[in-house]
Amino acid sequence: MSVKSCVVTVVLYYLFTFDKVYVLTTSEGINTDPFVIDVSWNSHDYDLHTIPTLQVVSNPLLARQFSPIYKKIFANLKQLNADYARYAVWFPYPKLAVAELDPPSGLAQCGNVGQDFSINLSCEQNGGVISKVDFASYGTSTGACGQMKQGQCHAANSTTVVERMCLGKSKCSVPAFVDLFGDPCYGTVKRLLIQIQCDPPQNNTYYNFTYLDTMLEDFLDATDGHSRIISFCTQPTWLFKQDTPHIYPDNASLVDWEYPVGTELVDDTMQALGDYYGRLLAWYTRGGFIDEYGREHRSNYYYNWDYTEIFNEVEAEHHMTVEYYTRAYDAVVQGIRRHTNNYAMKYVGLALAFHQFDWFRYFLNHSNHAPDIPLDMISYHFYASGNSRTNPLDWEPFFNQLDAFTLQVEQIEEIRKILSPKTRTTIDELGVILADDNTPGAPQFPPIYWNAAAALYAYAWAKISRLRIDVVGHSQLVGSFFFTFVYFRLATYRIMYIGYPELPDLQLQPQFPSVALLNWTTGEGSAKYWTSKLLIDTVDIDNDQAVITRTTDTSSQNIFCQAFVGINGRRWVLIINKRYANVDVFLPGATGGRMQIINEASGFGPATEVTLTLSTITLSPFSVVIVHMPTASAN
Ligand SMILES: *[C@@H]1O[C@H](CO)[C@@H](O)[C@H](O)[C@H]1NC(C)=O
Ligand SMILES: *[C@@H]1O[C@H](CO)[C@@H](O)[C@H](O)[C@H]1NC(C)=O
Ligand SMILES: *[C@@H]1O[C@H](CO)[C@@H](O)[C@H](O)[C@H]1NC(C)=O
Ligand SMILES: *[C@@H]1O[C@H](CO)[C@@H](O)[C@H](O)[C@H]1NC(C)=O
Ligand SMILES: *[C@@H]1O[C@H](CO)[C@@H](O)[C@H](O)[C@H]1NC(C)=O
Ligand SMILES: *[C@@H]1O[C@H](CO)[C@@H](O)[C@H](O)[C@H]1NC(C)=O
Ligand SMILES: *[C@@H]1O[C@H](CO)[C@@H](O)[C@H](O)[C@H]1NC(C)=O
Repeated sequence: MSVKSCVVTVVLYYLFTFDKVYVLTTSEGINTDPFVIDVSWNSHDYDLHTIPTLQVVSNPLLARQFSPIYKKIFANLKQLNADYARYAVWFPYPKLAVAELDPPSGLAQCGNVGQDFSINLSCEQNGGVISKVDFASYGTSTGACGQMKQGQCHAANSTTVVERMCLGKSKCSVPAFVDLFGDPCYGTVKRLLIQIQCDPPQNNTYYNFTYLDTMLEDFLDATDGHSRIISFCTQPTWLFKQDTPHIYPDNASLVDWEYPVGTELVDDTMQALGDYYGRLLAWYTRGGFIDEYGREHRSNYYYNWDYTEIFNEVEAEHHMTVEYYTRAYDAVVQGIRRHTNNYAMKYVGLALAFHQFDWFRYFLNHSNHAPDIPLDMISYHFYASGNSRTNPLDWEPFFNQLDAFTLQVEQIEEIRKILSPKTRTTIDELGVILADDNTPGAPQFPPIYWNAAAALYAYAWAKISRLRIDVVGHSQLVGSFFFTFVYFRLATYRIMYIGYPELPDLQLQPQFPSVALLNWTTGEGSAKYWTSKLLIDTVDIDNDQAVITRTTDTSSQNIFCQAFVGINGRRWVLIINKRYANVDVFLPGATGGRMQIINEASGFGPATEVTLTLSTITLSPFSVVIVHMPTASAN
């Protein structure tokens, strides 16, 4: 069959819905002759080994307390059937990410809240009552528990008000209301600070797992039966030395990009750091923990997961060096063992955003670690970037950026193989971040963006599979929205997204919308999600092998394709259109095969499936295609 005779452009799919036509380079397509895909079905290339998965980052859209779509989100996660999904409990929302937001404070009990929030005090632990108000101030007072100082602005009756509400009671709740204290400084932002003591005395800690619990429960339920990687990325800021305590938002759904501050730990032995993580893990895997003062906190959680990852992108704000990170990694492993007695837990180290080879050389050298510290897995991240949020042509270079990244992967692999060959690797954040992604008011990307980013992920998985990396995780499930929960007030389920002009005075702040896999308004899967699903459903890492695949696209700038053979005569080909244009390909023997295609037309639905009636296929812009070859050899 000659190539020419197959140049019948079969438009299998309407390529654009006509209300959404964006700049198209050429409506004719790139090539007049299709690119020929030449598969040597009997020539083994490499064993397929790389598991496609995804990252999930904690944020209010996952929280039962806030999200109108959390059920849909977790149902979509469950439906993916992903192994090695990474759950990152990450800092921008401190109440969602940190279990102990305030340091243990001995016999004094403190609270510090902003306007209209309440301080809850309790002496119930030993059946006691509030016996003394050491400090109370509604105004501009500051300072850590035990060191509170009255500010210039101070409501004179603060102490009497708190005494009247709390003394002799087992617990009380004092709101920072102007109606309660009067207004000591009109127009100034005020806070309420209180310090009390109990009789009989009690030691005080401030654990609160409310939001961590619900999101983790839902994540673990949705990924039950699969290997998973849990990362409690964020360290409590009070573990670090600081002049004044960091004030985090009272509102759990408000972003605090400044949360991880401090560059020097208070406890330089790192024991306290290890203890924090040990107790956190004991809470989720051992039914509870013993706190800093020997008191038991019961959770009744006996979860299990395979891997715990330590920190994320070394929390760059803490300015860790590799020596520091390595020591902290060891301290966290030791802390977890101390509090859980679990020596079977496996660990993922590094989670690096940058690829400084020195870091890999140091961390992967076992002699830089304490004895008996496992280096089970390392992780690092990659994001392609685009300068334009709206011009799809600007997204074609994603693929070359990925090629440059694979050269770094090769060098990291060389280091790993020499220093710690048994250490596995997960590239647990792989995605795209468009320019100005966190800039309120930045323009919304057009729907074809989902396809460009989906194609990049499929390409990345395939390219990286050649390097035999263990896991490649698509970043990230959902989180791309403005952090506003106006729908509570308006009693409508509305979440604002980028560029939406309706509520300009709400200080809206997006969280990396271009990284999402789901539509953050509806919870539906985008092309990114469905591409992950397609790969997860198709890839059989126990049996598939890549075979030599060549194309007439000699520059490799238009298409990517890779063919695989599996058991029972299974043969499949991944084809990716790297262009924002139609591209025709000719895959000999494909007639009668089954094609699954994700393109703009498949929208928020799964891959469209068709039986091929020809071996020439028109790939619409940024399509991801899997062709399952007919079982009887048709070459
Ligand atoms: C204080 O208690 C009230 C009423 O139980 C509750 O709504 C509020 O969330 C609590 N605040 C904190 C900071 O725990
Ligand atoms: C505290 O003092 C302010 C200003 O004098 C007053 O408006 C307020 O009612 C007082 N609060 C109470 C509970 O007495
Ligand atoms: C509080 O903790 C300290 C230090 O752990 C301990 O010595 C003391 O007995 C505790 N006091 C109470 C009342 O629990
Ligand atoms: C924990 O936080 C939740 C949500 O803010 C709050 O309702 C609850 O009262 C807090 N629990 C304790 C013991 O402070
Ligand atoms: C590993 O680290 C040790 C101690 O820092 C050093 O002496 C050794 O040369 C390193 N090994 C390699 C292969 O770099
Ligand atoms: C938290 O912040 C959101 C967004 O600004 C707001 O809509 C909501 O009312 C706040 N919640 C509280 C309890 O203040
Ligand atoms: C999410 O879905 C809604 C409803 O279909 C659609 O209007 C919106 O454009 C989608 N958002 C994105 C970013 O694709």
